[in-house]
Amino acid sequence: MWRRAVSVSHFTFAHKSIAHNKDVCKLKFWETFTTETPMKEKGTFQRDKTPFITFVLGGPGSGKGTQCMKIVENFGFTHLSAGDLLRREIASNSADGTMILNTIKEGKIVPSELTVRLIQKEMESSDNYKFLIDGFPRSEENRIAFEQIMGVEPDVVLFFDCPEDEMVKRVLNRNQGRVDDNIVTIKKRLKVFDALNLPVVKYYMEKGKLYKIRAVGSVDEIYKQVYPVFASLNFEQQVRE
Ligand code: ADP
Ligand code: C5P
Ligand code: MG
Repeated sequence: MWRRAVSVSHFTFAHKSIAHNKDVCKLKFWETFTTETPMKEKGTFQRDKTPFITFVLGGPGSGKGTQCMKIVENFGFTHLSAGDLLRREIASNSADGTMILNTIKEGKIVPSELTVRLIQKEMESSDNYKFLIDGFPRSEENRIAFEQIMGVEPDVVLFFDCPEDEMVKRVLNRNQGRVDDNIVTIKKRLKVFDALNLPVVKYYMEKGKLYKIRAVGSVDEIYKQVYPVFASLNFEQQVRE
């Protein structure tokens, strides 16, 4: 249950109620991750920095990962692809590996808590404070699970809007050996995307956080729409233009 939302400059925190409903409005971001182990014992997360979280939305093959690489290069973000984290779980033979693999093969959504915990672990152990969370949230359930577990909201949401036929073409040409990059699974993924993505987009549009990018044309043409979103934020770690 949410206690209150506190706006800090351009960041919005939504702190949830933890530990016997005691007042948590003064908790800092790292303290909202868990009630058990203080962050300082878990990783090197920069406690003096407010996190800056960008969610990256878009259908399969819309170019999320490709554009994220360019944002990382220019603005020093840490790129966390939810799909990559799930594939890493499969590769590491984790207890959930088989379930994740079957879900991905079917183009369905992995239970939200599992995905959020993987993202949480990466964020907690990072020494960065700027995160691109790519391919997440895929659904309202994903979104709500993130807010509840992490106690924070994104600052910026990018939505790569791409026609279906272009996405299909790109995915079929991706050639990364992915089990889900075949026409049967792509059709299922597009159906899931159509059914679940719009409410997420609408939610963030109404909050004034959504940047819709027309994801057609060359990689550089698309990035011309993305760059100003971050350039206007004046990060001190902006490395290359
Ligand atoms: P997503 O992460 O959204 O699934 P990717 O970034 O992996 O998409 O891109 C899917 C495929 O399309 C990749 O092979 C990538 O190199 C290619 N690609 C990305 N952007 C473009 C573009 N603007 N035009 C043509 N191909 C692209
Ligand atoms: O984003 P990407 O294309 O790498 O995702 C691959 C698959 O991983 C999705 O089709 C879905 O099965 C799973 N996934 C998920 N939940 C997310 C992100 C990805 O279940 N938030
Ligand atoms: Mg991707």
